[in-house]
Amino acid sequence: MNVLTISNIKKRFGDKEVLKGVSLSVPEHSVFGFIGKNGAGKTTTMKAVLGLLGIDSGEILVADEKVVYGQTKTNKYIGYLPDVPEFYSYMTPSEYLKFCGEITGMETKDIKRRSAELLELVGLGEEHHRIRGFSRGMKQRLGIAQALLNSPKLLICDEPTSALDPVGRKEILDIFLAAREQTTILFSTHILSDVERICSDVAVLNNGRIAVQGELSEIRNMRTADEFSVEVERSEDTAKILSAFSSICKEVSPTQIIFQNHEKDMFNIMKFVAEQQLSIQRIERLEPSLESLFMEVIDK
Ligand SMILES: Nc1ncnc2c1ncn2[C@@H]1O[C@H](COP(=O)(O)OP(=O)(O)O)[C@@H](O)[C@H]1O
Ligand SMILES: [Mg+2]
Repeated sequence: MNVLTISNIKKRFGDKEVLKGVSLSVPEHSVFGFIGKNGAGKTTTMKAVLGLLGIDSGEILVADEKVVYGQTKTNKYIGYLPDVPEFYSYMTPSEYLKFCGEITGMETKDIKRRSAELLELVGLGEEHHRIRGFSRGMKQRLGIAQALLNSPKLLICDEPTSALDPVGRKEILDIFLAAREQTTILFSTHILSDVERICSDVAVLNNGRIAVQGELSEIRNMRTADEFSVEVERSEDTAKILSAFSSICKEVSPTQIIFQNHEKDMFNIMKFVAEQQLSIQRIERLEPSLESLFMEVIDK
């Protein structure tokens, strides 16, 4: 089942058509990476899903209910972390979640139980200081806890990792993986390595349309691996391999050579390595990267 289905939505700001017919489906319990360059229209799409922004045409369904601009009915299924979340900085994390729970009408005992669970999930279980002194990453994690408070079917996060350092980014990605059991996660990003690390599904927004969409594993297979790498221990051996196979290989470092992937060549090279008794560090088939695919499908 799809938690979110966007069908052919269009949105224009003045004479600029930002969304030119965007369609995408987010399967339940996926970690969905919504990829696009800055200015591609990711935030615009997300705001439309939340009913915060009117669209010119098309349709959005959340849990099979139609989203209507200005109405919040379908938002009961959604937890949302905006790109720049705001907090009451004089509160502690648990005070903040209590406050958020109260304004959405949760029962006190549910707020207590759920807050404790979520603060644990986002690594703020032992944090009793005020939000004022929090790092960007801590605020982002608290924002995720808040967005999950009402146990939404769909968690939408707008560029949750973009302003963070590698450690902060990994913390957020690990939280998404842990939260996947209880919800579906849709997050926008322009950082492809984050997507490669955790996403089950992706869509690339480019020039107002979805350029590719699907399961990450399928998308990787769209480009068949066409290279493999041989790493040797001694640079003299690199020279030997290069001279024997000059037409099908290239040197990328003093001890690494990349070959076009033809099975027959691979066996020939292995034979050569054995005959010459070269010391091999490793031989591996190179996975096509999401980045190379991304560069193919977007306008540069
Ligand atoms: N309220 C607005 N009025 C006019 N232009 C807007 C508005 N919101 C967004 N845009 C324009 O729409 C385009 C897409 O913006 P946005 O959805 O924020 O992209 P992204 O989140 O992918 O970086 C940008 O060119 C931006 O300048
Ligand atoms: Mg944005």
